[in-house]
Amino acid sequence: MNKPKVSVVLGLQWGDEGKGKILDVMASEADWVLRAQGGNNAGHTVEIGSEKYVLHLVPSGILRSKVSCLIAGGAVVDPGGLIREIEGLTQRGIQTRSRLFLASQAHLVLPVHRAVDRGFEKKRGRSRIGTTGRGIGPAYSDKMARIGLRAGELALPPGELAKRLRERVEAHNRAARVQGWEKISATGTIREMARAAKFLRPYLTDGVSVAHRAVAAGKRILIEGAQGTFLDVDHGTYPFVTSSHCTAGGACTGTGVPPTAIRRVVGVLKAYTTRVGGGPFVTEDGTLGHLLHGMGREFGSTTGRARRCGWFDAVLVRRAVQLNGVTEMAMTNLDGLDGLEKIPVCIGYRLRNKVLREPPVEVSDWEKCRPVYRMFEGWCEPTTEARQWGDLPKKARTYLSAIKELVGAPLGIISVGAGREQTFRHG
Ligand code: GDP
Ligand code: IMO
Ligand code: MG
Repeated sequence: MNKPKVSVVLGLQWGDEGKGKILDVMASEADWVLRAQGGNNAGHTVEIGSEKYVLHLVPSGILRSKVSCLIAGGAVVDPGGLIREIEGLTQRGIQTRSRLFLASQAHLVLPVHRAVDRGFEKKRGRSRIGTTGRGIGPAYSDKMARIGLRAGELALPPGELAKRLRERVEAHNRAARVQGWEKISATGTIREMARAAKFLRPYLTDGVSVAHRAVAAGKRILIEGAQGTFLDVDHGTYPFVTSSHCTAGGACTGTGVPPTAIRRVVGVLKAYTTRVGGGPFVTEDGTLGHLLHGMGREFGSTTGRARRCGWFDAVLVRRAVQLNGVTEMAMTNLDGLDGLEKIPVCIGYRLRNKVLREPPVEVSDWEKCRPVYRMFEGWCEPTTEARQWGDLPKKARTYLSAIKELVGAPLGIISVGAGREQTFRHG
């Protein structure tokens, strides 16, 4: 058997670290990209020259014509959303047939799930999670409750698919009466899924066999994570998280690729921190947010919401490095800090007169933590033209080297702009 060549690429913060960009760059030397988890709550941006693509479910390798892509079984798929994405790519000249595959094991996101997502958020009021409204949590809940429908069921005889959908929608409507959720039309859902079935059937495959054949053939595989470590349902700022496993373990369960096949874990992170939606954020800083938004940066790729912004949090990233077994980091958006004279980095959390070096367990404690900062001198010059380590201003190199030490992982890739060419390896 060939030696496995599998790398995992995932986010080390709260999502939107620039995974799409880094995956696209890495995909120039890949055969397969497998999307492990999440749904169309994700928005992965790839900029190629003046063209900008935002991918939600389709793996970021799709823009490299020699790369094959699989939406693996750990993902949840809104059929309508996927079809719109495929059609959008086709219109732009990106072919998906015979190189995009959808695992039959992936669970379906149905209109009932979006209704429940909206219902729960409304009920939570001011303490809402700020979900993307894509029905992700309810779809994963159905999976865990063992009442979900899987993508493979789209290949059932139409009558059988209709029967299963009707049962699911009717159960929703009975619960909706009690819970105050919107009711959903069973006929509407059946019609929508029948159309989706026709369109998506040629893409369906056994995701695990596809992944294993690629591993056994020694293909170069990238496993694409969505969201980020602190949105992981187990390791994030629960309950302000998504409903899947965004950490390295999720890459294995989501694709069926075993941990022993993984050679490399690339943790993508920003030179500062952002988060969308509710939940604790120790280093949040309105002034930095104002500055970045003023530059037209940090608006969500999926919902267009302004992202909350803050300073680099080494407490958070150190934990992310441990959780994921990061073998190298890919640091993006260094250029976002170009104009600043002073740059704080959080090295501890102050909670009730103690300084924590590790994040607390309870969100109520997390919300009370105050940052302990170490100050760095800004470089106050553009980094966007840098193409190698030596091109960076000395103070930027000092900043990056300190972060590497603080979080305990090597720095492999540096990104100084959204373009493919604005990326280089460290050293
Ligand atoms: P993802 O969800 O992790 O793929 O990240 P998003 O695509 O949601 O958000 C990252 C944003 O940063 C996108 O608009 C990217 O085009 C952009 N980006 C990525 N790397 C860099 C960088 O080094 N500099 C700049 N200026 N933008 C970047
Ligand atoms: P990518 O892959 C940033 C956030 C939402 C919300 C929480 C739960 O582009 O990095 P959900 O709809 O998943 O139930 O929302 O998670 N969230 C993301 N934030 N990037 C993402 O994906 C996200 N996907 C979900 O804003 O706070
Ligand atoms: Mg994103």
